Amino acid sequence: MAGKIYFWGTGRLAGKILDRWIPIERIEAFIDNNPNKKEYFSKKVLTPEDLIDKEYDAVIVCTLGSKEIYNQAKKIGLDLDKFIFLYGNCCLKDINEDYSFVEQIVGEKYAKVIEKRYHVVRGTEAYGVLCFENTKYLSDSYMETDYVRIKTFELVVKEIRKKDIKGEVAEAGVFRGEFAQYINKAFPDRKLYLFDTFDGFDVNEAVSEKKNGNCTEAFIEAYKDTNIMSVLEKMDNLDQIVVKQGFFPASAEGINDSFAFVSLDMDFEESIYEGIKYFYPKMSEGGYIFIHDYNSSLLGVEKAVDRYEIETGRGLKKVPIPDANGTLVISK
Ligand SMILES: C[S@@+](CC[C@H](N)C(=O)[O-])C[C@H]1O[C@@H](n2cnc3c(N)ncnc32)[C@H](O)[C@@H]1O
Repeated sequence: MAGKIYFWGTGRLAGKILDRWIPIERIEAFIDNNPNKKEYFSKKVLTPEDLIDKEYDAVIVCTLGSKEIYNQAKKIGLDLDKFIFLYGNCCLKDINEDYSFVEQIVGEKYAKVIEKRYHVVRGTEAYGVLCFENTKYLSDSYMETDYVRIKTFELVVKEIRKKDIKGEVAEAGVFRGEFAQYINKAFPDRKLYLFDTFDGFDVNEAVSEKKNGNCTEAFIEAYKDTNIMSVLEKMDNLDQIVVKQGFFPASAEGINDSFAFVSLDMDFEESIYEGIKYFYPKMSEGGYIFIHDYNSSLLGVEKAVDRYEIETGRGLKKVPIPDANGTLVISK
């Protein structure tokens, strides 16, 4: 990496990238639309307008609202040829036109990761036809961040209902309950098990994933910032919630239910592997598991799925979907 680089974004996604793919010391300053943010990783946070009279070789954008940032940067006259979009509610293949430039700034390996991402434009009227009146659980804000994942979930729920697939529902890896709230809305008549430490990752697992280059310290730190109350506040059908706080799979001991839908979102190889090993045999025929981050830079997730298939000699019925974090849908 060479030249003057500014980094647009100071949130959770930035934590995934910084120091793993992009060394913090290489960054001149951060950019954020929130004028109250003054400092991030001991560097200055500037507003987008501050960039107007600065010289820069690249601006790396790391937020989900890439399309809006593209438009904002264009409006204030920033040099879009120097912009690299890492995430977003738009097709990165279209927006990052010059991949040799991307490669020059972030290196060959990470340029390939970025190029692989197939984000789509969020739910516009063109996609509106897919909305089913009686399964419209979703808020507009979530649709903006991960239209494909949520709409796929909506369609899967429709299948489960149509075929009357029996079983409870669960999420392992809840964090602040962003996705869990939709599971709870979609299944008001079923128990929703919520598995999480609600205190971040297991220390040993996090250390080993970091050592293998699969995540950064900032990423690990970011997931400590949650609590059970903030999750419960989001739930419409509180009577169905069963909180299982602690390290999974130990936290699942003694449960004898079968399942119709499970979301596995624990990010790291060992936990995801344990999740498949625990839940797959307990899934009803016709049930679904979503494995978040399967096609993403969290490389342990795909390894966990491969490992389960090799160890059990069982090929899972897999449909990888092109949502923001490369979810894998498994049907039983
Ligand atoms: C990416 S976050 C989950 C995001 C969440 N699904 C959402 O909708 O925002 C990953 C979560 O998995 C939890 N986690 C990871 N491994 C775990 C394990 N073995 N047992 C319990 N919780 C775990 C972490 O504490 C963290 O909150």
